Amino acid sequence: MSETLSAIPSRGLPLSARAPGKCILFGEHAVVHGAPELVFAIDLHTQVFVRASDAFRLNNDPEARQRNGYFRSAVEQAWAKGPPVDVRAVSRIPRAAGLGSSAAFTAALAATFAAAEGGIERPALAQRSFEIERGTQGVGSPGDTSTVVAGGYLAINGGSGDPLWSVRAEDHRWEVRRVPDPNWVWVVAHSGIPRSTGDAVRAVGRRLAREDGPELLAEFASVAREGIDAVAQGDRGRVSELLRRNQELLREVGVSHPRLEALIEAAAPAAEAAKLTGAGAGGSIVALPVPGKEAELVRRLARAGGLPFVVRAAPEGVALVE
Ligand code: MEV
Repeated sequence: MSETLSAIPSRGLPLSARAPGKCILFGEHAVVHGAPELVFAIDLHTQVFVRASDAFRLNNDPEARQRNGYFRSAVEQAWAKGPPVDVRAVSRIPRAAGLGSSAAFTAALAATFAAAEGGIERPALAQRSFEIERGTQGVGSPGDTSTVVAGGYLAINGGSGDPLWSVRAEDHRWEVRRVPDPNWVWVVAHSGIPRSTGDAVRAVGRRLAREDGPELLAEFASVAREGIDAVAQGDRGRVSELLRRNQELLREVGVSHPRLEALIEAAAPAAEAAKLTGAGAGGSIVALPVPGKEAELVRRLARAGGLPFVVRAAPEGVALVE
């Protein structure tokens, strides 16, 4: 039977919503070109507070619509006829770190705007959040935004069973399916090096346009397909082997970074496997701890200069905060 996720209900301003961040295990970049991806919502959240105001402001900044593309895009695409609003955003997700801070901000803001306009079903919110994010980045897949809207573990263009929804762009259509949560603890660590998702996605696009591109894309797809099955079966050994293979492919397409490699190396004695997560070229790594060595892994990553977080899947996606 297919799962139906609760809709965002109708509510008047002032309103608050919160959304989780995300962590990609398999298939980042390749998903932009239609290959499968496995991603889960993490239990670090962004919360927004929205109230009617005399001018548009974000965290007290009256110039925010010029300075913050996500804010501008959300207002233009999801609040075009609405009155000016004052928005406060508070986040535990590091910014520009590959952990979904922009998707969480976008989905939380889109949810409050939609609630104030009569409510919205989650598939439509996933489509809208993707369009807002893509309107800012210019490129990308709906993996991040769908994950923060749905919560839990998700396969994009993979997995089995009925899709939760599909998301469309002019050139692609992605199907989003639930993957069973293996109930594992993960450790993510931010390298401290900010990166631009758009730039990294365009660079990988150029790399995949070369002669061996189709072959590389097929390898990304096969690793992600097997990774989705291995996570669904709770097979840590297989997942670890596939995480390492995925990292090799990401190196091959040029989005690793010496700081990410140093974190992966520092993690090794306390992790079953580690890889970069998200767009790369900076940003974060994700590591699967050796059971019982979670604290040691965190210490190792911090000593190597990373900003580590112990994370689990957040089972719920974006929601209004009553
Ligand atoms: C960024 O979090 C993941 C990428 O695959 C881009 C995207 O899917 O939009 C690099």
